[in-house]
Amino acid sequence: MQLKLVLRQLFPDLNPARLPGGFDQVGDIALVSITPEVAARERQIGKIILTSCKHIRVVVKRTGPYEGVHRTLPLAVIAGEERFTTVHRENGVQFHLDLARSYFSIRSAHERARIAALVQPGETVAVLGSGIGPFPLIIARHSQAREIVGIEINPVAHQYARINLAANRSINNVVCIAGDAARELPTLHRSFDRILIVKPHGGIALLPCALAALCPGGHLHLYAMQPKNHYDGIIAEVTAACSRIGRSIRHLDTTLCGHCGPTRYRICLDAVIDATG
Ligand SMILES: C[S@@+](CC[C@H](N)C(=O)[O-])C[C@H]1O[C@@H](n2cnc3c(N)ncnc32)[C@H](O)[C@@H]1O
Repeated sequence: MQLKLVLRQLFPDLNPARLPGGFDQVGDIALVSITPEVAARERQIGKIILTSCKHIRVVVKRTGPYEGVHRTLPLAVIAGEERFTTVHRENGVQFHLDLARSYFSIRSAHERARIAALVQPGETVAVLGSGIGPFPLIIARHSQAREIVGIEINPVAHQYARINLAANRSINNVVCIAGDAARELPTLHRSFDRILIVKPHGGIALLPCALAALCPGGHLHLYAMQPKNHYDGIIAEVTAACSRIGRSIRHLDTTLCGHCGPTRYRICLDAVIDATG
């Protein structure tokens, strides 16, 4: 469906640049951005999406930016059933979720597949900020990892991660832990071959516990919000955290995996952390 084209024809009085150009489909929910200029027509826009897309049962709009430590998105239903819960499928994995009470973005699907492809047979992986479980479950489905441990602070997201573990019965190498990763990871008294810090806002605070739990030569994937092509600061922070504990960083790559406004990008810093500096 060419949403913008349809809306242009139906609302010739509205500035086409302010009309929604599309939506994110999460299960049977359409997530759309409505600008203030078209807000008076949002219910009509919602109904058009419902009638044109037979898989959509709910149309929701964002009412603000991602909020708080749990990174939840304020939403409002503009058409269809009054709910934020759905079941979404991504690369052979089924995810039950509540879009309003836990973080989930279909836009990270490619990034999850990229990380899964890097995981070597027999690896142990920890995901700090594992949400409803997409990274652990996609890695489990598409690699031969020995074990993947997810740690999540939002009790609602953790509950969904448990539901998703049960829903994807053939996956049996994922463990989900509720709580603050800075507190929970050290209590495991073990090390991992690969650790992901999936907390682009303030994830650097989890670096000390992640480095302490990473095997010599282990892989770190640190997500962060940065201006495009200005990654020296984040690399310097990781380098300093490593040298404080007598380890060194071998920087491998920086991947652009989203954006937050026109100038800030969601990046993933991929690095190998050696035993000694
Ligand atoms: C950007 S979301 C990513 C969620 C999930 N990995 C995904 O890709 O959908 C960041 C997640 O980190 C969680 N989080 C924030 N601080 C945390 C902490 N100290 N320990 C564990 N999880 C944390 C949030 O609740 C949120 O679910």
